[in-house]
Amino acid sequence: PASIGEQLADRYMIPYPAVIAHRGASLHAPEETRPAYLLARDQGADYLEADLQRTRDGTLIALHDTNLRRTTNIEAVFPDRADDPVNTFTLAELKRLDAGSWFNEAFPERARDSYAGLKILTLDELRQIAEAGDNQPGLYLETKSPALFAGIEAELAAYLREHDWIGKQARQAPTGFDGDIDVGYSPGRVILQTFSKDSLVQLHAEMPDTPKILLLFLGGDGSITADPTIQQREDESDAAFQARRRPASPEAYNTFLDFARDQGAIGVGPSAARDDLDPVYSYADLADDSMIERAHRRGLLVHVYTLDDAVDFRRYLNRGVDGIFTNDPTALLDFTGAP
Ligand code: G3P
Ligand code: CA
Repeated sequence: PASIGEQLADRYMIPYPAVIAHRGASLHAPEETRPAYLLARDQGADYLEADLQRTRDGTLIALHDTNLRRTTNIEAVFPDRADDPVNTFTLAELKRLDAGSWFNEAFPERARDSYAGLKILTLDELRQIAEAGDNQPGLYLETKSPALFAGIEAELAAYLREHDWIGKQARQAPTGFDGDIDVGYSPGRVILQTFSKDSLVQLHAEMPDTPKILLLFLGGDGSITADPTIQQREDESDAAFQARRRPASPEAYNTFLDFARDQGAIGVGPSAARDDLDPVYSYADLADDSMIERAHRRGLLVHVYTLDDAVDFRRYLNRGVDGIFTNDPTALLDFTGAP
């Protein structure tokens, strides 16, 4: 018989296990740029994952960090504004930046000449990538640092509606799903995600029929928090890293899961610990057997972030997680396609 997770995924028309290309195929190409998303799409990922922010002149773009220092040449182009937040730049200013050369410098073994000079993508450009080609993945969109972007949930809803990605016209199952689509819920062509409890509430008010995932993170003090800032996560990552095998309390999980369910989420996105102890992507292990069971019992799916290796895919899929954020979708597809 199908597991609870499989039945839930079926109900929400979400591929199982969901292969979520984290910032695109970002192991192999600069994160959240065109080649990263083209690669993920053409490899057959179920979803293209992106972190949404808004330019000063009101365009939604895909970018993870609050400032541009790590992933662009901001220092060379706007030396006095290198640490300024993304939302203080116009789209035209952002389009002047090189969002690819940093990757060649950081990962010379995976560098390509064509990555130099890549541009930051708008949500509109990302949508067009998802709609083109033989594989048409869904979009898995995060309201990133939503406290900086008042009203972003309503803007996103209007955008997705205008382009028929949510609402009646969106009743098209995502690639990779072949179940019954005649249910009273928009299929998971778009999944919305956030660490912010406030943003979850607003996303649900704006898009009640669109699947939503509440992300969770273990702070350095061992407590679960659903709304850490990026800075908090960086500050606390060392401590959390040390505490990675220490489970959060059952009460903390229950409170978090109850909130997610009561505010309209169809699932949760806990951090995962990686076997390679990668300092960037190995967080606390919040998806232990007990947590997964508690989530499923409440009717919540579990999509963990961020795993790239077979040893980790095996560990978490054996526990019964329903999807994985990965920087290397082809590795996960190879793994799940294996007998
Ligand atoms: O969105 C899930 C995962 O991406 C959360 O971490 O920092 O990569 O957005 P982050
Ligand atoms: Ca994200």
